[in-house]
Amino acid sequence: MKRDVIIACDFSSAKECYEFLDKFSAEEKKPFLKIGMELFYSAGPEIVKELKRRGFRIFLDLKLHDIPNTVKKAMKVLSTLDVDMVNVHASGTKEMMKAAKEGLTREDGSRPLLIAVTQLTSTSEQAMKEQLLIDNPIDDTIAHYAHNAMEAGLDGVVCSPLEVAKVKQACGPDFIAVTPGIRFADSAVDDQVRFTDPAKARELGSDFIVVGRPITAASNPVEAYNRCVKDFCADEEFVYNPSTFI
Ligand code: C5P
Repeated sequence: MKRDVIIACDFSSAKECYEFLDKFSAEEKKPFLKIGMELFYSAGPEIVKELKRRGFRIFLDLKLHDIPNTVKKAMKVLSTLDVDMVNVHASGTKEMMKAAKEGLTREDGSRPLLIAVTQLTSTSEQAMKEQLLIDNPIDDTIAHYAHNAMEAGLDGVVCSPLEVAKVKQACGPDFIAVTPGIRFADSAVDDQVRFTDPAKARELGSDFIVVGRPITAASNPVEAYNRCVKDFCADEEFVYNPSTFI
């Protein structure tokens, strides 16, 4: 599998999303897109089907977290959408993650990549201690949650680029690290606190970077996307091979 850039399509309507994607229509490489709760709840499964029809790869970022049986059934529904990557919260336990994988696996054995959120980057160590009563250092918790995800048979985790080394150390080099928190050195930081630029994320071992506003709010989104690809994928010429996806 080759590393790649995933654009976070944090739009509130299908119309806004299509207008944004039309800017890429002349590009040879169709970007990998992340559809999150906002767009999915506003535009529904239809937008996923339409974007797949247009040839985009999709990370459906719904971060499921419920009792194992409910997550299994929800994943069974998502498996019919033909997305390329979906996720759950690792804090839902190994039993929930195993159930998610079972639900996601189609009759022919194929399934999208299944990734776990460790600790959200918006959760501070202080909040973990005071509100969640988790006393361990945040890095240890992240590595432990990643290890649980690996034991449950998942493919990787979402984490900060700064946590990739710990995750790979705990779970091995092939365990996928999907990392948001990306900013160009010369662009706005917005509300991200712990961030790195695409070249640094590559150095730190990220497999996929998730980039939102540095691309979606850029005056020239296509140029910003190409800059991410150039800096993150570097000399690797990206060739999408569906067989590398399960
Ligand atoms: O605009 P920006 O590049 O900050 O977007 C980052 C995307 O990654 C958003 O969709 C955000 O919800 C998501 N994300 C994140 N940090 C996490 C998990 C997801 O920024 N820990």
